Amino acid sequence: MKLSRILVTGAVGLLSLSLAACGGGSSTGGGAKTTFKLAFNQTEQHPQYKAAVEFGKKLEEATQGRYTIKAYANEQLGTQSDVIQNVSNGTVEFMYVGGPVMESFNQDFVVYNLPYMFDSVEAQKAVFRNEELNSELFSSLEEAKGLTVLAALHAGTRSVYNSKQEIKTPADLTGMKIRVQQSDSQVKMMELLGGIGTPMGQGEVYSALQTGVLDGAENNPTVYDALKHDEVAKYYSYTRHLMIPDYLLMSTKALQKMDEADREALLKLVPEVQNLADDGFAQYITESEEAAKQKGATFNEVDDVAAFKELVKPLIEESVNNEVRQTLHTAIQEANAANPAK
Ligand code: GCU
Repeated sequence: MKLSRILVTGAVGLLSLSLAACGGGSSTGGGAKTTFKLAFNQTEQHPQYKAAVEFGKKLEEATQGRYTIKAYANEQLGTQSDVIQNVSNGTVEFMYVGGPVMESFNQDFVVYNLPYMFDSVEAQKAVFRNEELNSELFSSLEEAKGLTVLAALHAGTRSVYNSKQEIKTPADLTGMKIRVQQSDSQVKMMELLGGIGTPMGQGEVYSALQTGVLDGAENNPTVYDALKHDEVAKYYSYTRHLMIPDYLLMSTKALQKMDEADREALLKLVPEVQNLADDGFAQYITESEEAAKQKGATFNEVDDVAAFKELVKPLIEESVNNEVRQTLHTAIQEANAANPAK
């Protein structure tokens, strides 16, 4: 099968797929219904889960019942690192995946995972909706890995939390074992901030905090509360060091198998799903912070964010080291200038 670039209206723009070349899918012939699986590692309360449910309903309507989606929450289908293999081989059709997991497949994804990259949620949203900018990166794994990135989603702003004390200056982090997402950039970032970056899957963090294997972790307030980390690490300190995307990922194989009209219908729904997931986030954060406070967690501002920002500069310099990454980085800076922090 020859893969070539075609223009797909309404979704990521250029996808390196040619259905004309492979003859389209026949799995739905005869009116059979296909239920795609979508793997998710967080709870049913999360806006991404709700958006996935809507996605399934809308897909069913748009394909006259030929396709729908069933979302599986709470790591039911496995951790992100495991599930991505299944999406790659086509046994699971969709998943939401954190940005750092993508770095092991294509290092260029690192740019969106670097600390203090985006000055505002609006800047990040603008960059993620720039189809021309992202089309190559988002389709870069189709041929080799069978992974199509349909959309990049806002996934909150991440800060540090721990079981010992409020973090006010980088010195307060010295020697603390802090869980980070599984990629080199994340480990390095925590090292530069003074902590000991401990990569681990999200599902293991609660017990590691409880048993003292970890002193803390870093995440947005929704994970902090929903996965009950607030019960075992009560100091949440607003370092706001990361705004890492989640990606809505689809098996390229599954996408290729669909008839052209159904595939186009699916891709047309993607911007709507992206907006649904993004729009629900702010409210979910407020609710999560309130709930964590009720359980006795404390939230504090750090003394000077600039001090944290300064420490991670070398990581940005060493990571933005080729033309692709430079282009993404420049686009971020332009978006930041147009959408400054409020
Ligand atoms: C966030 C993000 C997830 C990621 C998780 C983590 O919740 O949305 O995709 O897996 O952080 O820290 O592992």
